[in-house]
Amino acid sequence: MSALPSAHFNWCNVFRILEKNDLAAKVCRYVIAAPDVARKAKAGQFIILRLYDDGERIPITLADWDVEAGTITLYIQAVGKTTIMLSMMKAGDALMDIVGPLGIPSHVEKGKTLVALGGGFGIAAIHPVVRAHKLIGNRTISIIGARTRNLMLMEKEMGAISDEVRIATDDGSYGTKGFVTTILKKMLEEKEQMDVVLAIGPVVMMKAVADLTRPYRVQTLVSLNPIMMDGTGMCGACRVVVNDKMQFACVDGPEFDAHHVDFELLTARQKMYSPQEKLSMEIFEKICKTQEQRETAAW
Ligand SMILES: Cc1cc2nc3c(=O)[nH]c(=O)nc-3n(C[C@H](O)[C@H](O)[C@H](O)COP(=O)(O)OP(=O)(O)OC[C@H]3O[C@@H](n4cnc5c(N)ncnc54)[C@H](O)[C@@H]3O)c2cc1C
Ligand code: FES
Repeated sequence: MSALPSAHFNWCNVFRILEKNDLAAKVCRYVIAAPDVARKAKAGQFIILRLYDDGERIPITLADWDVEAGTITLYIQAVGKTTIMLSMMKAGDALMDIVGPLGIPSHVEKGKTLVALGGGFGIAAIHPVVRAHKLIGNRTISIIGARTRNLMLMEKEMGAISDEVRIATDDGSYGTKGFVTTILKKMLEEKEQMDVVLAIGPVVMMKAVADLTRPYRVQTLVSLNPIMMDGTGMCGACRVVVNDKMQFACVDGPEFDAHHVDFELLTARQKMYSPQEKLSMEIFEKICKTQEQRETAAW
């Protein structure tokens, strides 16, 4: 693979959506032209995107990238105004801008067995880290979960980079009945070999993983997702407390030692702007009454 985007890359396409696929559970997969980001991307990093000039700044993990094609791949779950607007954009539409790659890349060390747990968009987020471990010859076990079988994401992609993929569904329609933590708990009780555990997903899931592995003293990492603004360590929006010390997730993370994260504070800070987020969604729905109006607003 060359270190530069192909000479045929069309620079007029920068930040254009080249492919978009609607997947399960309000998640869409986007392949976006962003050659400078693709060139520097490393496992565990993220970008911040904007849809329009004074739009919200949305942090999203790099799920994949292709240096030669000059593209990055993102999996985005529509949860609020901006991600819903994004879910209405189509291949051919362009984002306003993308900043990145941001954050400290994952530390990947030879001779380890990695157990990686992903829930929701977290499956896309563990993907490059699992691949980085696999590439240096580490054993990789991926545990992925969904509410039910047809909401499961990326099973094939995770299978290609994992020695084993273990699956959990809440309703038992596929794999183990229960959560991803149900599988991890059994593995810990049965003393299965694991050197590093990585969990990415909702805060409640990451906290549950930390609580499970703590008594076994297994090194456990989580990728934190506080609200972010500038992504450069200047604004303080993403502050989290780890080991009783204030850290900025955008520059000191996003990966941290799960056993020392103050998850209660993270949960509280994630809800800090709930009234404003609700209001902004209500205004969006009021102004754009029809699907067509919403799609136009997505521009
Ligand atoms: C480093 C990092 C990587 C991320 N990677 C991804 C990814 O790969 N794919 C993806 O779908 N999402 C990812 N997120 C979360 C994503 O940034 C938020 O879902 C998005 O900013 C919500 O914006 P909104 O305007 O659509 O919703 P808002 O109206 O801002 O919020 C809607 C709901 O989402 C919750 N929310 C807001 N911000 C976050 C957040 N940072 N994390 C979790 N919940 C939030 C709010 O509490 C509210 O309940 C990541 C976040 C961080 C910090
Ligand atoms: S987002 Fe501003 S300091 Fe991290």
